Amino acid sequence: MKGKIVAGVLAPHPPHLVYGENPPQNEPKSECGWENLRWAYERCRKNIKKLKPDVLLVHSPHWMTVVGHHVLGVEKFKGLSVDPIFPHLFRYAYDLTVDVNLSLKIAEEITKEGLLSKVMKNPDFRIDYGTIISLHLINPDWDIPIVSISSNNSPYYFSNEVGQEQMMKLGQATKRAIEASGKRAVLLASNSLSHRHFTWEADIPEDMSKEHIYNHGQYLWDMKMLDLMKAGKAKELLAVMPEFFDMALAEIKAGALTWMLSAMDVPDYPAIVHGYGSVIGTGNAVVEWNPEANQ
Ligand SMILES: [Fe+2]
Repeated sequence: MKGKIVAGVLAPHPPHLVYGENPPQNEPKSECGWENLRWAYERCRKNIKKLKPDVLLVHSPHWMTVVGHHVLGVEKFKGLSVDPIFPHLFRYAYDLTVDVNLSLKIAEEITKEGLLSKVMKNPDFRIDYGTIISLHLINPDWDIPIVSISSNNSPYYFSNEVGQEQMMKLGQATKRAIEASGKRAVLLASNSLSHRHFTWEADIPEDMSKEHIYNHGQYLWDMKMLDLMKAGKAKELLAVMPEFFDMALAEIKAGALTWMLSAMDVPDYPAIVHGYGSVIGTGNAVVEWNPEANQ
């Protein structure tokens, strides 16, 4: 049977959300914090579980590769992930299983698009925290195999436009590989929206009286992007994105959302915005595109 993408989620990865949740895998413990986003993830999780996916695919800006688009090619990875900026919030023991067959198929399809691909075969490779956090927040049980795709540096090395073009091709390659696999797949775009952030931290990191969006302009840009998502205007969203990257230092510049929307053939149905909130001033939203909910 032909495989398919059963949902796509804009799944941002601030380590604060894992810290606020206190799962057993994370060493630092909090009192609470960032509930609007954590509860948004809880709602989204329920929808994703119901879809019974065979595999979760994540594209993360914190596995940045200069040459080519890389995928994980080893079945098991285990280790301690420490956030380089927030080591006091995120020291997470991960133990994950990769769908290597699907990874290899994606690598093959990437080359058919005229792009470079590479399979990561080092069993001691340290999985980036963007991948781990988005996966944890969508599936804290870790009972579904994963595929992790690097973010090629082209949007930064060349231009927004060249980068987006590559991510569109990467999305189509991913879609074909999923179809050939016969599996039910959920895609995770591991990105915040606006990304200007504070350069200081409250004495108590989870002190929510100190948390707010960095500035009003950034907030207006986030709302514009979310309005387009809610209206089912992914095509317009893609058209506005290069300007959004520059105006709001948006993290989606790294390509995850473009990759996901392309793999889903640029959906024209409304996305479900589960919640929006700031983390150290950055704008974050948990947004689900679910074709079955829109039939
Ligand atoms: Fe990030």
